[in-house]
Amino acid sequence: MKKMFICGNWKMNTDRRSAIALAEALKSSPSASHAVETGACPPFVYLSEVAEMLSGSDVSMGGQNMYFEPEGAFTGEVSAAMLLDVGCRYVILGHSERRHVMGEGDDLVNRKVRAACAAGLLPILCVGELLEEREAGQTEAVVERHISRGLEGVSREDAGEVVIAYEPVWAIGTGKTATPGQANEVHLFIRDLLGRIYDSDTAAKIRIQYGGSVKPDNALELMSQSEVDGALVGGASLKADAFEGIIAAAAEACG
Ligand code: PGA
Repeated sequence: MKKMFICGNWKMNTDRRSAIALAEALKSSPSASHAVETGACPPFVYLSEVAEMLSGSDVSMGGQNMYFEPEGAFTGEVSAAMLLDVGCRYVILGHSERRHVMGEGDDLVNRKVRAACAAGLLPILCVGELLEEREAGQTEAVVERHISRGLEGVSREDAGEVVIAYEPVWAIGTGKTATPGQANEVHLFIRDLLGRIYDSDTAAKIRIQYGGSVKPDNALELMSQSEVDGALVGGASLKADAFEGIIAAAAEACG
């Protein structure tokens, strides 16, 4: 059975002490179960300490970004091998803040996705439209471009391991959530697109998370949608009890 995947994206938050405390709280989540996989993506500098705290638990860890080259003179960057070396299983790629604040384009995101797959690190490929794109009726076109360009050159086998996070940019950190119906409609479109790019078995295997102001009080309805396989959670992942509430909702949705 495909497991729900609830992953926290801590972004540029926490300090050493609070990152370790958050990992400790996450480790003892009573709601994480065989049906719900949980993960955390702390800032790079705390990865090792968070990994140490999470060791022996079922909570997986991811990086928030990486560079596609394996090593060399790339000041300020980290490689897939480095993330694996400190215990990461995942890496978030193409997050809207990388695309719209740091200016990353589809080509760069694609190189990173391919490098992560080649290294054995599982990409969480983020896709989603801006508010003006939604209002202009371009949601599907934008999501299609992010996915088809992002997965260019990725084999069917590797694609089955990729996680897609649909995060409408207008819902990230704004308190505005897509309605469960709006989310599922785009997830259905993504599932169909993945079927066209690969095949329906591969499309069915790929987990599609929803992200954008997911909170304990809206998580159950979102996670109960047919094509929603989990959540990428920003703000609410920084509070252990709120994150636990989302994990509990996912467990209820699939239980
Ligand atoms: P948010 O962030 O939950 O704070 O809206 C989600 C994300 O950016 O992944």
